[in-house]
Parts: sequence; C-alpha cells; structure tokens
Amino acid sequence: MKTFLVTGASGAMGSAAVRKLAGEGHTVWMACRNLQKGETVRRQILQDYPEADIRIKLLDLSSFDSVKTFANELKEEGVKLDGLFNNAGTMNRHFTKTRDGIETTWQVNFLSPCLLTRLLLPILAPDAHIDNMVSLSAHYARLTENFPLSDEKDFTQLGVYAQSKLALLLYTLELSRRVPQYVNMSDPWIVNTPIIRLDRWFDPIADLFFRPVCYTPEKGVRPALRALFSDERGKYFVGKSIRDYYPKYSKRYDLQDIWTRVEAFLATIAPLDCL
Ligand SMILES: NC(=O)c1ccc[n+]([C@@H]2O[C@H](COP(=O)([O-])OP(=O)(O)OC[C@H]3O[C@@H](n4cnc5c(N)ncnc54)[C@H](OP(=O)(O)O)[C@@H]3O)[C@@H](O)[C@H]2O)c1
Repeated sequence: MKTFLVTGASGAMGSAAVRKLAGEGHTVWMACRNLQKGETVRRQILQDYPEADIRIKLLDLSSFDSVKTFANELKEEGVKLDGLFNNAGTMNRHFTKTRDGIETTWQVNFLSPCLLTRLLLPILAPDAHIDNMVSLSAHYARLTENFPLSDEKDFTQLGVYAQSKLALLLYTLELSRRVPQYVNMSDPWIVNTPIIRLDRWFDPIADLFFRPVCYTPEKGVRPALRALFSDERGKYFVGKSIRDYYPKYSKRYDLQDIWTRVEAFLATIAPLDCL
C-alpha cells in the first residue's frame, strides 16, 4: 500500500480522491486550509471505511509561510510519499492580494503548488507519482509579460484562473523532464462543485440548467486517479484519454525559460536544490 498527499482534500474532488484512495487501503494525508471542514470529511469517510488511515494537516496555499511550514513538518515527522495530488484551486471573483503581495488565484493555483512540489521532492519516492490539476480553460489562455507573476491590469476572474492553469500545465511539462518521478496533469472537464460558482447574478440559472449536466466530483477526479498510478510522464489525462501536449506547447512557449523564471522566483521564497 502507498502513501498519498491530496491538497484541497476537503473540497469536492479532493474528498472524492481521498475516499477512493483511502478506501483502497492507501494511507492518505489530507492537506486542508480549514481543519474543521477536513475533519468532517475524514469522519464521513471513516464511517464507510473504519480501517482507513487518513491524516490531516493544515495547508493554506495563499501563504508561502504555510507551504514551508507544512513541508517542514512532514519532513520532521519522517513522512515518505508515493503520490502528490496538487488538487486545490480557487477562482476569486475580485482582485485581491495575499499576505505575500501576490494575486490570490495566481498564488493558490500556480506558485504555491510549484513551491510545495519542489519542497516535497526530497520525501517523494523516486518512483512516486505527481498529478497537477489543470483545466480545459488553460488552452484558451496566454501568459503575460509579467510572468511568473500575473498582471494586475489584465485581471478578470476567468482570465487569471485560466492563466494560472496554463502556467501549471507548462511547469508540469518541464518538471516531468527533470525529475525521476512520474509527473503528469489531469483535466476533470466541467464538474458540479463549488468552484464553478462565479458569484454573478446568473448563478441561480446556471445552478438550475447547467449543473445537472456537469460531471459529478467522483467522475471528474477519475483522470487524476489514473494519473496517480500511471507509467506515463508529462501527459495530460482527460476523460479516458491521455494526451501529449508537449509538441504543441513547446512550440508556443520556451519551456526552459518558463522553468528558469519560476525557479528564480521560488528561490526567493525558499532555498531549492537545482534540478
Ligand atoms: N469543477 C470544475 O469544473 C473544474 C474544472 C477544471 C479544473 N478544476 C480544478 O479542480 C480542482 C478541485 O476543485 P473542485 O472543483 O473540487 O472545487 P472545490 O470543491 O471548490 O475544491 C477546491 C479546493 O481547494 C481548496 N482551496 C482553495 N483555496 C485554498 C487555499 N488558499 N489553500 C488551500 N486550499 C485551498 C478548497 O478548500 P476548502 O475545502 O476549504 O474550500 C477546496 O478544498 C481545482 O484545482 C479546480 O481548479 C475544477
């Protein structure tokens, strides 16, 4: 049996992943920004799987200090991981900055998962699996000149969300070529979860007509679960297919330059081994 870490583990797809993995007998670390919410999810899963080994730890991706503390604590506790599922995400309605001075969606969806992954590499087995949750919106986005930060003047709710997922996609492609672990990404399609609420007047209409035709969280998370046991590298899991986006995106973007810029930024937050 393996040990997995799931971020956003108290959310819709995160909790579906925890349930599936823990139900199969794997040890699962739930990384949650709200421990009370996470504990409720944990108790619900334990009702169905009383033998499940599920642990919880605080992780707020809107804070680099929280990411560093989280990774340090796991290391100090001697935890070894076979899988990391970077699932947490947000889509903020308005422009807000975190305590680190970065636009919130950008930090939660992109910079913090990259930092977390880099800090956890030493405790991830060489044959471990990493899956980063992206989104179909990534294919309609463009990075701005300000990369690896996002541009305040270009902020729109959907725009920065899509950019953060594109950035994560590109980073995943390059990371997969630099580490021994199986690094992939997954796209759940459109799933009936809290994150698709846009905080607009038409939400009730969408709830009525749109949500019923969306995937369930259990279905949406399937590509991610496949990626966490796959022997592919740098691939994009969506539905039942596995796509290779390296040719398309390496033509459109200089992936090494993107990597260098992200690494330079992350190195200002925490010391990192060169990859
Ligand atoms: N639903 C879709 O159609 C869709 C499509 C494409 C991609 N995705 C991606 O799928 C992933 C899971 O989302 P979901 O659809 O399951 O929605 P969700 O239920 O809202 O889950 C999002 C999770 O991220 C967590 N989170 C948000 N901000 C955080 C922070 N600052 N620190 C730590 N955790 C934070 C949330 O914590 P709380 O539990 O405390 O709220 C929640 O657990 C996200 O990355 C999302 O972008 C979703």
